Amino acid sequence: MKIFLDSANLQELRKGAAWGIVDGVTTNPSLIAREGVPMEEQIRKICDIVDGDISAEVVSTESREMIADGRRLATIHKNVVVKLPLIRDGIQAAKALSSEGIRVNVTLCFSAAQALLAAKAGAYIISPFIGRIEDTGWPGMDLIEDIAAIYSKHGYRTQVLAASIRGALHVVEAAKAGAHIATMPFKVLDQLFDHPLTERGLNQFLSDYNKAFELVKS
Ligand code: G3P
Repeated sequence: MKIFLDSANLQELRKGAAWGIVDGVTTNPSLIAREGVPMEEQIRKICDIVDGDISAEVVSTESREMIADGRRLATIHKNVVVKLPLIRDGIQAAKALSSEGIRVNVTLCFSAAQALLAAKAGAYIISPFIGRIEDTGWPGMDLIEDIAAIYSKHGYRTQVLAASIRGALHVVEAAKAGAHIATMPFKVLDQLFDHPLTERGLNQFLSDYNKAFELVKS
């Protein structure tokens, strides 16, 4: 499973990229707004940091404008994937842009029926929002499993990207459910490293080693 960072913060992206395990980046208008830098400028900077798929979302809601915005975003860098919301105009724009060879990530997906429409429109990625589904009291991972099963049964090549991930367990469950990609905030990626037994074990190894050599010296 690929790991993407769900962030537009350059410091976080630099840190994640340095670890060598970040395969791409997803952004959305809220994340870009948080950085206070216009979309195209920030996406260009992100493309210089992470070498992988970089999702940049349109901010229009009418298909013709979405197509124009998508074409413009796609010219920023070869790694840009145009993100479109799963509304009627978004699906129409997804079909048009995919037919031109522009890779599309269809976002704000909350049902398998919606995911089927995105695949039929030729989407490169579908983004079901796990955390936000669970906020409403419904199990999020069932959706990942359903979409992965439908796509595999019917031979759709659209990749399933588990989005709106809130913790380490979500990442593990997404991998088990068959997600091709999980996108996560930097904080969650950072948490994936940690285990108390790793820390305790390392402290023990180093203290044993240091004690032994101190003994040899004296
Ligand atoms: O980028 C889309 C998605 O990952 C947003 O997550 O935490 O705002 O629900 P969240």
